Amino acid sequence: MEAISIGLLGLGTVGSGVVKIIENHQDKLMHQVGCPVHVSKVLVKNIDKERAVEVDSNILTTNPDDIIKNPEINIVIEVMGGLEETRGYLQTAIENHKHIVTANKDLMAVYGPELLLAASANGCDLFYEASVAGGIPILRGLVDGLASDRITKMMGIVNGTTNFILSKMSKEGSAYENVLKEAQELGYAESDPTADVEGLDAARKMAILSTLGFSMNIDLDDVKVKGITEITEEDLQYAEQLGYTMKLIGIAHRDGEKVEVSVQPTLLAEAHPLAGVQDEYNAVYVYGEAVGETMFYGPGAGSLPTATAVVSDLVGVMKNMRLGVNGKSAATPQYEKMLKDDNE
Ligand code: NAP
Ligand code: HSE
Repeated sequence: MEAISIGLLGLGTVGSGVVKIIENHQDKLMHQVGCPVHVSKVLVKNIDKERAVEVDSNILTTNPDDIIKNPEINIVIEVMGGLEETRGYLQTAIENHKHIVTANKDLMAVYGPELLLAASANGCDLFYEASVAGGIPILRGLVDGLASDRITKMMGIVNGTTNFILSKMSKEGSAYENVLKEAQELGYAESDPTADVEGLDAARKMAILSTLGFSMNIDLDDVKVKGITEITEEDLQYAEQLGYTMKLIGIAHRDGEKVEVSVQPTLLAEAHPLAGVQDEYNAVYVYGEAVGETMFYGPGAGSLPTATAVVSDLVGVMKNMRLGVNGKSAATPQYEKMLKDDNE
């Protein structure tokens, strides 16, 4: 296979991690896919901004068409965030037969079915492992690792920012505003952190997890959400005195055709497996009828952990290119039917 050319939409926290991994792990990528990979264009808002990674200024652009309509680019990695504008860019990229890797849960929780169908109709891959739980390969775990099982329950800490805030407030008695600022500086929070602290980011991830885990299209509007903005340092201290710890927990439960999904601050006994998950770490407990209890744990936010998931998806796309099966491997016939039924 010839060298693979990547177009990157966004060069912030995740985008700079992606550039670093592609540069620093060329030997591993070469070993996996047998050809060199390079980032040839990068879309940003502000060309003159100082970056966390060095890139040739000639590859920076503010014109999305330089990537999404560029015939020399094979794969578009979307790490810019946003909804309507981004949806339009990815639709155009797919129409131009680009494979897509995205870390954008806002987009996938709302427009996932539409984009997945468009990708499959155009023979393109659309992978989104990094959209849920950062560096934890939870989507692959559900879709591939537990493919043979019937999953009935998932429970998890799926937002790094709020777990970081609650951990620091509880362990160090830090003030909410100060820890939120720290989470923003460390690149865990969204550019507007409202979705993190009000629970919507976790709700989007729970909608994606339940759609894949239960093989049913779960509408984001059906997820009940309560965030952490009303939790005080006193609440956390009282909880601790009583032997409990407070976490923002997402729960998804399936009983036959009935599914309930919610996100809310929850008191956990200190012995509970999710109670020990600290700082920006995430964990997802999955119960399958045959396998029983499983638990996925790891860094849920941040530059390199999230970029690991993005670049692993990139490897997946390139392996499919080599085998000539792009657009075919991700969706099972049942999943495609579900997407089509739901989009009608
Ligand atoms: P970020 O640091 O704010 O970076 C966003 C990048 O996109 C910036 O380089 C920005 O350009 C560029 N950008 C944004 N809007 C643009 C527009 N309209 N036109 C051109 N360029 C635009 O965001 P991030 O933290 O990397 O997150 C990116 C995505 O990954 C989001 O969907 C987020 O939810 C998801 N995600 C993030 C994490 C994490 O830990 N941060 C983890 C998992 C998933 P400038 O640099 O010029 O401003
Ligand atoms: N803002 C998100 C979080 C980034 O804190 O979990 C990872 O999706």
